[in-house]
Amino acid sequence: MSENPINAEQLIKIFDSQIPFVQLMNYYRCAIMEVETKLNVLNAEFSMQYDRNPIETIKTRLKSPVSIYEKTKRKGIPFNASAIEQSIFDIAGIRVVCSFIEDIYKIAEYLTKQDDIRVISIKDYIQNPKESGYRSLHVILEIPIFLSNQKRWTKVEVQFRTIAMDFWASVEHKLRYKKNIKNPELIAGRLKEYAEIITHVDMGMQEIRSQIDSAETFDDDE
Ligand code: GTP
Ligand code: MG
Repeated sequence: MSENPINAEQLIKIFDSQIPFVQLMNYYRCAIMEVETKLNVLNAEFSMQYDRNPIETIKTRLKSPVSIYEKTKRKGIPFNASAIEQSIFDIAGIRVVCSFIEDIYKIAEYLTKQDDIRVISIKDYIQNPKESGYRSLHVILEIPIFLSNQKRWTKVEVQFRTIAMDFWASVEHKLRYKKNIKNPELIAGRLKEYAEIITHVDMGMQEIRSQIDSAETFDDDE
């Protein structure tokens, strides 16, 4: 990562826009609240229906001013509200961690089919893992936030993962930004190997879950 001499305060001052930076960030903050509530509602309903919580944790984050600025530079776009809204889709970020792969797809489906949500894109890195071995389901969506005098469609990136995928991604992320690693290829190879082991574990756990579910159904029928 490059050293950035500019700080958040300076960036907010140079922000060239009709909408002040803090106000724009507030829209994203509201969008996070809206989507997080929807996820909590789904989790509550699902747990009443199936007697277990499909979602283990929900983490949210707002991209920092410096990260936003760096991304505008990388993308070669101006640092203003309309450019940011049109080109940067992960300012509002939500990470949903589930125990089981099937629950990821269920929750993602229940969320994306709600009629006040527009799906912008879905990237399925579970079916198609990244070269690094990274797996997750990424959904970029738009949600309306209702302000005193307007309705504003706001983008949110939701990443769905299992606990195992989350563990892998957090370790890999830490190593990715470590400088002067002696054998980067060797480490990358080992990480990829463990990504496969984790896939195997996730699939095995899903199988056990399904077996338990069908045994319960069998009991009920007796
Ligand atoms: P960005 O410009 O980084 O947003 O790339 P993109 O728009 O192509 O999005 P992508 O689908 O690659 O997902 C970006 C996000 O997914 C990152 O911010 C990470 O949170 C996560 N991610 C993607 N690839 C990896 C990876 O190889 N390792 C880890 N640890 N996380 C990853
Ligand atoms: Mg992204």
